Amino acid sequence: MASLIFPSLPAALVDRLLTEPACWLVTGSAGFIGSHLVETLLKLDQTVIGLDNFATGHRRNLDEVHSQVTSEQWLRHRFIEADICDLDACREACSTVDFVLHQAALGSVPRSLADPVVTNAANVDGFLNMLVAARDAGVKRFVYAASSSTYGDHPALPKVEDCIGRPLSPYAVSKLVNELYAEVFARCYGFASIGLRYFNVFGARQDPEGAYAAVIPRWTRALLRGEQVTINGDGETSRDFCFVDNAVQANLLAATTADPAALNQVYNVAVDDQTTLNQLFEILRDALLTFRPEVQQIQPVYADFRQGDVRHSRADITKAGRLLRYLPSHRLAEGIQVAIPWYVSRFGVADGVHG
Ligand SMILES: NC(=O)c1ccc[n+]([C@@H]2O[C@H](COP(=O)([O-])OP(=O)(O)OC[C@H]3O[C@@H](n4cnc5c(N)ncnc54)[C@H](O)[C@@H]3O)[C@@H](O)[C@H]2O)c1
Repeated sequence: MASLIFPSLPAALVDRLLTEPACWLVTGSAGFIGSHLVETLLKLDQTVIGLDNFATGHRRNLDEVHSQVTSEQWLRHRFIEADICDLDACREACSTVDFVLHQAALGSVPRSLADPVVTNAANVDGFLNMLVAARDAGVKRFVYAASSSTYGDHPALPKVEDCIGRPLSPYAVSKLVNELYAEVFARCYGFASIGLRYFNVFGARQDPEGAYAAVIPRWTRALLRGEQVTINGDGETSRDFCFVDNAVQANLLAATTADPAALNQVYNVAVDDQTTLNQLFEILRDALLTFRPEVQQIQPVYADFRQGDVRHSRADITKAGRLLRYLPSHRLAEGIQVAIPWYVSRFGVADGVHG
């Protein structure tokens, strides 16, 4: 029964959460991944505190979550508008919770290159505040959003957790520092955490706006509107695109694992697939054909490679499978099929070919 309602979650996990409801803090809850965590947790009848300062998140994401849950479930949600650079706000948010899913950060490699100070404040100072607040509140588990950018210039493929290179951007430094702090808090204070190295997560509610938008929402919107699609580099740059439901699953497994060997570790969260940007363009164009046949005629234009970008990325997900029982529910094409209707309803479909 549970597996029918939550097809992307293991039935045992769903049963455990429904029989032992807990109180969760999701930071970055008005953002893309955070809002999906809030939605799933509320649907699982959990109590959820969300925290966000709307730096890149949106109230409309929370409104959409509201529309997806029952009024009884929504009553179990409390939102704190605050900045994680404010330690007192972090303490207040952590005071009554069992689990912390820390997502709040400033994403984007180019943003960090343009303004490393502001990225560092949210991603390093804010992260440390959250660790201190969660430790002092005695939360059971601290799960945080790490990043595949930590692999930096290490050439090996697929990426295995303990083989990392030198960081290629201030953003990558900030995410590496998160892992180092989490490790030191385990060693010095016995504080249990788990880091999830997300690889290019995508899905509904991922923001297509602005200079720092991720590739899938940016291209999808452009194709729907008949606008130009720009590929940075030769299009042979590759990524392991991870549907957001897989990231939600990994968070809930990490928060609730009872295996001591699984604690104080970092895990790749992706699907162990490698898709080039040229392939991605074709997959998106094909997926949009039924909504807008004119996309067939759109060809991408090529621009310079982006500074700080890793050339190839593919995750070895053996460790997450072994220790967390993580099993991705969606590969790229399946996730695209779920996400595209959301983008169509969000942006509409333009008439004719403009780009
Ligand atoms: N989306 C991906 O592909 C990806 C890949 C690797 C890592 N991550 C990490 O996952 C997490 C979530 O990313 P996302 O894609 O949902 O991005 P997002 O921008 O949609 O969400 C981040 C949220 O954090 C909030 N936030 C930022 N700074 C804050 C601050 N100082 N105080 C309080 N709230 C703050 C933003 O307003 C936003 O709502 C981030 O830590 C990001 O670095 C994401």
